[in-house]
Amino acid sequence: MIKLQDVSYVRLGTQDLEGATHFATDYLGLEVSERGKDTVYFKSDAREHTLCYFEGDPADHTAAVEIGSRDDLSSAAAQLEKLGHAVEIGTAEQAEARKVREFIAFKDPSGNRIELVWRPAHGGQRYHGVRDAGITGFSHIGLCTTDAPRDEAFWTQVCNARVSDRIGDAPLLRIDEVHHTIALFPSSKPGIQHINHQVESGDDVMRSFNFLNDRQVRMVFGPGRHPTSSAKFLYFEGPDGMVFEYSSGVRSIADELLYRERQFPFEPKGFCQWGAKPDVPEFRK
Ligand SMILES: [Fe+2]
Repeated sequence: MIKLQDVSYVRLGTQDLEGATHFATDYLGLEVSERGKDTVYFKSDAREHTLCYFEGDPADHTAAVEIGSRDDLSSAAAQLEKLGHAVEIGTAEQAEARKVREFIAFKDPSGNRIELVWRPAHGGQRYHGVRDAGITGFSHIGLCTTDAPRDEAFWTQVCNARVSDRIGDAPLLRIDEVHHTIALFPSSKPGIQHINHQVESGDDVMRSFNFLNDRQVRMVFGPGRHPTSSAKFLYFEGPDGMVFEYSSGVRSIADELLYRERQFPFEPKGFCQWGAKPDVPEFRK
């Protein structure tokens, strides 16, 4: 069993690093933690970085998940290889570029590139955004799946994720008490489907709605409230069509024994209890 601890960072290729940096800072509200020749790293919480944009193919997405020990990392590599996944062992140089001590990379059954990382760096300084978006941290990712039941089995049987709820066949998966850290949404291709940052309050969600709307950022869903996690949310489009989400008030599942997963319909009311309709292809039939 691969013991996932938390999402650590995402890496996204872009042909317009300056444009992506402008969006990530001035609009999304992240802070540049480091600039390289063709990479920019962003902070959203106490960690050294939680997002990295690099000059490259905009379809090149990586999601990284933290692993607790070197032993867990090597047993994960062995287990993945046994299951037929090609496992890449990160070089020292690659690990440095990711600000982690060691990592391995593989593709999940849909072809999403996943990095399992050990000892990701924490920053010595607090995060403070360029604008006050109220961000409290990078929190979860949506991943595209080309076969939701197959990928649910991978994340819950090969890894330690548990299903919190399902919207249609789309499972919302938790790896700690947070309602979901990884969510799988049916699609025809792999990739990161959305990137979530938590904000302090529902007021922050609404403030950002007005702030981003005034600047012609395309809103794709919300403001609304998820009936699954109970979080208030806003989804909007960033560089290269990537969907970003702010949410606040995500449910915490403290007592595993008392919790039972629930089934929600794969229609707008399964995604929003306030009546918002998603303009996100993976949230629509
Ligand atoms: Fe989300």
